[in-house]
Amino acid sequence: MPLPAPSAPPERVDIQLGERSYPILIGAGLLGEPSSFAAAPDAASALIVSNTTVAPLYAKALHAALAGRFRTVHLLELPDGEAHKNLQTLNLIFDALLGHGSDRKTVLFALGGGVMGDMTGFAAASYMRGVPFVQVPTTLLAQVDSSVGGKTAINHPLGKNMIGAFYQPQLVVCDLGTLQTLPPREMSAGLAEVIKYGPIHDMAFFDWIEANIDALVARDPAALAYAVRRSCEIKALVVGQDERETGLRAILNFGHTFGHAIESGLGYGEWLHGEAVGCGMVMAAHLSQRLGGVDTAFVERLTRLIERAGLPTVGPALGADRYLELMRVDKKSEAGEIRFVVIDKPGSAAVSSAPDALVREVLAQCCSAG
Ligand code: NAD
Ligand code: GLY
Repeated sequence: MPLPAPSAPPERVDIQLGERSYPILIGAGLLGEPSSFAAAPDAASALIVSNTTVAPLYAKALHAALAGRFRTVHLLELPDGEAHKNLQTLNLIFDALLGHGSDRKTVLFALGGGVMGDMTGFAAASYMRGVPFVQVPTTLLAQVDSSVGGKTAINHPLGKNMIGAFYQPQLVVCDLGTLQTLPPREMSAGLAEVIKYGPIHDMAFFDWIEANIDALVARDPAALAYAVRRSCEIKALVVGQDERETGLRAILNFGHTFGHAIESGLGYGEWLHGEAVGCGMVMAAHLSQRLGGVDTAFVERLTRLIERAGLPTVGPALGADRYLELMRVDKKSEAGEIRFVVIDKPGSAAVSSAPDALVREVLAQCCSAG
């Protein structure tokens, strides 16, 4: 499918991290434009890391955009899917880099969704102890969340994103035109991470999402442009204050403690990450209500919005014991105590532990009977 003409000029959000600062460019048609990559580092060679779904759609355009900047541009096509976000697939990136004789200036370009971005970023963090990388996210979820902020990782059979590094890209190029080829289920998954920013930080944005959810589901370009920009602005604000998640950044994991349990409990790839986060936010909202941060009207409002985004709001019947066991593996856990991101008032979030009995009540209320 041809990419739409570039929107001039692209919108720009900056991640302010001192010498690790970088721009996020947002606009339609950016991926095929050499000027979109002016801020990419200079080097002799580049490797585009993509997958068997995204590469046939967009690798040619990206390759053409990069051909004037790098003497050699190689393409690696990995198998597609969360189930491949593992050590074996990561090793294919190292095989390609070593096979091409790539030096430590080689620039990696992650072309695809969050799986490509997280794995390519981790490969960049560790190949020759660190080579530069650029994120070219092509899913809504990756454009509003995973490509920004430098969390890179692969999954381990015992826990999601358990092996990884904080490693910032040097540039993020969000081509909104790529969202037009996303399957509807993936659009909904991305909307979960957009919705997340409302309850944790910005209720005016939440009101806007509520008013525009149908336009977002229908991929209205103007609505998508605003949703991506505002999400990136909020993420930039949070990451700029707490790059390595010593405190504040944890709020970006609203819904993720329950969500990660759903993902690993069902087997990676069964539910999409965004679907698990959407349902996890419903559970976390119920827990917040029980802890006194929000009222039932707020929980209902959030649940309704998640439903309208096309996301599941009832959790799978894994059993409360299994949920608790899985949630103890979460990275926020301390000394075996599960720590949840809860809403302490609409538009503000905090990390809190909760009595198992309360969590069991929430699971009983929010999961299917099995
Ligand atoms: P994904 O990368 O699996 O992409 C979803 C699907 O859409 C894939 O099949 C992909 O090939 C396909 N696809 C991608 N772009 C397309 C396009 N433009 N047109 C058609 N198909 C396209 O999933 P995702 O939702 O983008 O990312 C989820 C991953 O991101 C999870 O592994 C999650 O843990 C991670 N994540 C990381 C962070 C972070 O901060 N690093 C944040 C949130 C999520
Ligand atoms: N997606 C959560 C974070 O970047 O911290």
